[in-house]
Amino acid sequence: MLTSRKTTTTGELAKRAEGELNAVIAQYSAGEAEVVRAYFERPHTSEEHLDVLLRQMGREIQAANRLRPAAEMFQRLEVTVDRHEFADYLEHIAEEAEHYAILADLAEWVAGRKLTADEAFRYEVYARWVPGQGETKETNALLPEANRQMEVSRALVAELGFELGNPLSRLSEGGGGGAYIECMRLTGDEFRERLAAAMRRILQDEIHHGPARVHGFPEQWIKADEDIARTTRWLRTYMAQHLRVRNEIWGYPVSAERLAAIDRGELAPFDPTMDL
Ligand SMILES: [Fe+2]
Ligand SMILES: [Fe+2]
Repeated sequence: MLTSRKTTTTGELAKRAEGELNAVIAQYSAGEAEVVRAYFERPHTSEEHLDVLLRQMGREIQAANRLRPAAEMFQRLEVTVDRHEFADYLEHIAEEAEHYAILADLAEWVAGRKLTADEAFRYEVYARWVPGQGETKETNALLPEANRQMEVSRALVAELGFELGNPLSRLSEGGGGGAYIECMRLTGDEFRERLAAAMRRILQDEIHHGPARVHGFPEQWIKADEDIARTTRWLRTYMAQHLRVRNEIWGYPVSAERLAAIDRGELAPFDPTMDL
């Protein structure tokens, strides 16, 4: 009797946690879509398109730095490293490298020439704080908002610990997907159509990197009401900064006032359904 009641309570708690975490993600996903919409509301030069692509490329290729820890994991495979954890880790690196390649191909089409290595790595910066990753790529002088994101990530891990903090911040990967969904719907000229196709492909992975992980999160990490409050509060803080990072990627098309309004939940209409 006691066991079944406890199970019901736990199930109810997990459901509520999932609902509240998803609500934060939905709010900021709509906000990130608005950034893309705002960018395309004004005309842009090819140089501006190229710069946006280089910025997004930097966020994709940074994942390849995990090849070093991946090699260390391989040394410890079946001893302290689980085979599925290892395979997932490699898959994540490979997918981000593919996103980078898709965007770099598009960037070269926009530029009408080969990219230089300097351009390819210009905006490289780590997305999250991970112990031992080294400080060199934790900040980038060209990216003040990404640098702030690293500070938020560091504070999140300091309060929640890495074990919980890392999976929690991963729920926000891709900013909920709104920016990709908005891009996917672009039509009207060849750049928009090529970008739409690229983002459609990328979103197929990003959904699994971020929002699709919410469902499994509460079972492991939510044991009481206060866990819901604590994790949603941190997810909100983290995603609010990610919205600023998104705005930075697209050349700051959304004003500070409007960003604050999105934080308050004053959202422009956004249809999150996607036909991948
Ligand atoms: Fe990616
Ligand atoms: Fe990703």
